[in-house]
Amino acid sequence: MHTHHRSYMKKDTLIVEGLAGKKSLNGEVRINGAKNAALKVMAASVLFDGPMKLMNAPHTEDTNRVAELITILGGSVVIDKKEITIDASSIDSTDLDPDLARSMRSSVLLTGPMLGRYGKVKFPVPGGCVIGARPIDLFISAYEKLGAEVKLESSKGGDQYAITAKKLKGAEIFFNLQTVTGTETIMMAAVLAEGKTVLRNCAMEPEITSLAEFLNSCGAKIHGAGTTTITIGGLGSGGLLKAKHAYETIPDRVETGSFLLLGVLCADNLKITHCNPEHIEVLISHLRESGANIIVTKDTIELRDNAKLKNSSLKPFNIRTHEYPGFSTDLQAPMTVFLTQVGADEINPNSGARGESIVFETIYEGRFKYVSNLEKLGAQLTVMNPREILVKGGASLKAPEPGEELEAYDIRAGFATIMAALVAKGTSVIKNAYFIDRGYENIEGRLAALGADVRRVHADEQPEIVI
Ligand code: EPU
Repeated sequence: MHTHHRSYMKKDTLIVEGLAGKKSLNGEVRINGAKNAALKVMAASVLFDGPMKLMNAPHTEDTNRVAELITILGGSVVIDKKEITIDASSIDSTDLDPDLARSMRSSVLLTGPMLGRYGKVKFPVPGGCVIGARPIDLFISAYEKLGAEVKLESSKGGDQYAITAKKLKGAEIFFNLQTVTGTETIMMAAVLAEGKTVLRNCAMEPEITSLAEFLNSCGAKIHGAGTTTITIGGLGSGGLLKAKHAYETIPDRVETGSFLLLGVLCADNLKITHCNPEHIEVLISHLRESGANIIVTKDTIELRDNAKLKNSSLKPFNIRTHEYPGFSTDLQAPMTVFLTQVGADEINPNSGARGESIVFETIYEGRFKYVSNLEKLGAQLTVMNPREILVKGGASLKAPEPGEELEAYDIRAGFATIMAALVAKGTSVIKNAYFIDRGYENIEGRLAALGADVRRVHADEQPEIVI
């Protein structure tokens, strides 16, 4: 785990045998713990006086990278199956490894706890990434309000922030827009601050609530997580959290939604287990209105005899991505694939248009790159502007000609591309499977267990950094 300058991109490829529109997948898929919950709790380890443990943690490239970041700082991380034990008390550096931190935007999560505990942190100015610019201005201004001094230093490897604060002081902070990791990071920073912090216009994602509940059970004083106003009573000098019990990682709602969308298009009998259907209520509601028959219990979602439901009889509809509990941007790409398959003659109740849907991305300014994959597969869709796609339903998809490859551009676009390749006729090749591995554990094995023919071709590691 101490290898600096290692390669962060494995150029593995996935080979997908299309089902040619047949709904032949069957079986059960177990949903893993949420990557976007585990990452935050791993970062929170810095607030503890000794070892703390996560259960039901997923094995993703992103969780591995946070483990590596903490290890390089001097902390100890032991990953044993679904358990991750972290002891941050041996941390002896406050400079995040610049290459690693730059390769994953969510490393910024560590800066809050580091600043709260050690009063200083250095980290590289994150670059944009494939889905958008992803600035951290809201983090920086919140740190300043908490009394920290922020300096921008230039170094050989690129610019970095050097932030210092003898002791963070509670403050009133209004986020100009709802940011998930921003809310979590500043909430964690405030846990060890002196005095009370009030955060307004907070994001309300279930991962935030889960993080706050866990921190509270270990001694933090956080109120209101899951609403737009969060109040944190800082523990002040010498205060640290004590791990009274392990963190049970909540089910991954994006994985749940991804498998459900795939299931409606490609499965006959599918049971999604160990999930929390409440966290994807908006998706289930859209799909039911479109015509899918979805059976939900407290922790399972089931499709029965779904092959009888023709995709051509599904109704089109419009989606608009939104902060939770609205429609997640992380399901936007898989949803677009779904909408390419709905009935060409069915009426969209939102617009009255026949066979047409509109996808409106409000969170990111660049999350449509995958559309080029769908076009290669024969989908009919038009990117109207960087935020809107017009999708025509009822397209028969066909694998690209041999030699022409598809590519995973980001985690969710990667899954969407697998979905489209499964719907299609013929064999598709998807490059950069690595991106899918950042968020979905053993994707080929889990799809194979449902009867899909998805194979991985391993490639030698190449010394390349992904921004
Ligand atoms: N933003 C700013 N300034 C900031 C912070 C955010 O302008 O200081 C903007 C962003 O550029 C974006 C919007 O605010 O346009 C919302 O971004 P947010 O900060 O909420 O996103 P995030 O916290 O970086 C998390 C998830 C993403 C998910 C988004 C939106 C994690 C580790 N990541 O990102 O997950 O798309 O919330 O729900 O929790 C994924 O898992 O594939 C993924 C990208």
